[in-house]
Amino acid sequence: MAGIIDEINELKKEKDAVILAHYYVNDDVQAIADYVGDSYYLAKVATTLKESTIVFAGVKFMGESAKILNPNKTVLMPDANADCPMAHMAQVERIEEIRAEYEDVAVVCYINSTAELKMHSDVCVTSSNAMKIVKALPNKNIFFIPDENLGRYIASKVPEKNFIFNDGYCHVHKAVKAEGIKAAKAAVGDAEVLIHPECTLDALELADYIGSTSGIIDYATNSDKKKFIISTELGVLYQLKKNNPDKEFYSAGSVQICPNMKKVTLEKIRDCLRDGTGVVEVSEEKRTRSLTPLQRMLELAE
Ligand code: 13P
Ligand code: SF4
Repeated sequence: MAGIIDEINELKKEKDAVILAHYYVNDDVQAIADYVGDSYYLAKVATTLKESTIVFAGVKFMGESAKILNPNKTVLMPDANADCPMAHMAQVERIEEIRAEYEDVAVVCYINSTAELKMHSDVCVTSSNAMKIVKALPNKNIFFIPDENLGRYIASKVPEKNFIFNDGYCHVHKAVKAEGIKAAKAAVGDAEVLIHPECTLDALELADYIGSTSGIIDYATNSDKKKFIISTELGVLYQLKKNNPDKEFYSAGSVQICPNMKKVTLEKIRDCLRDGTGVVEVSEEKRTRSLTPLQRMLELAE
């Protein structure tokens, strides 16, 4: 293991590169990353880096967002096939229909989306800032794409707006079932349920805390409780256990593994750095048009 880590560190120096990793990637990748975080943190931190190359240990929409925000940097994806299926689960034609139907509408696009969808949207959000941003928008009507579950959760917290939903979902979070959480609670005893808002509303109803991956990690770290049922992708366990060696973490029973996030390996990070492969390209038209909603997110989330 030391061999490949040394190789990566050498290549980072040689190529003036920095490694960003999402909490869902493999433990060994999180361990060597320069910055580890949730989608919002990683998008924001990508705009502050001095290095000329960003290696994005995550899925395609993350690398693409980093490139859109930092056109002069080289962004490398260790596995170009690591893509989020939900990112494709909305249609531009539907956005146009909604715009024609509603006069006062904002198209709010979860960052887990293609650049194509972003460029037809008014503002991007992540799970950690969606509520704040939706509340701040002047529009009465909100077309929330692509994630229906996150949209419904935000709608339940912002009743003054009229939401139109889209039928996209994250297969990892949709697989977390209310029955699984109840069974885990019964088996574990006095545990708090921490859940990501990409889960369905019936599962969210069982939560002690609902939030992004960073929110879940911070909540468990600051809590006096000792046992937690984790209802999100289990990559978060790496940071949870590191921060809280005396606490116990349990899954909610389903297979809480994102196969795309797990495609990123140390070997692929080494290879993309060494060979300059996995370069993220976004056409200039797409980049400039999708930059506006991403920048608006960064401004409104502050
Ligand atoms: P956050 O990083 O915002 O918690 O989102 C989770 C996710 O599904 C990323 O793909
Ligand atoms: Fe997409 Fe879900 Fe995987 Fe996140 S966990 S990348 S939303 S499939």
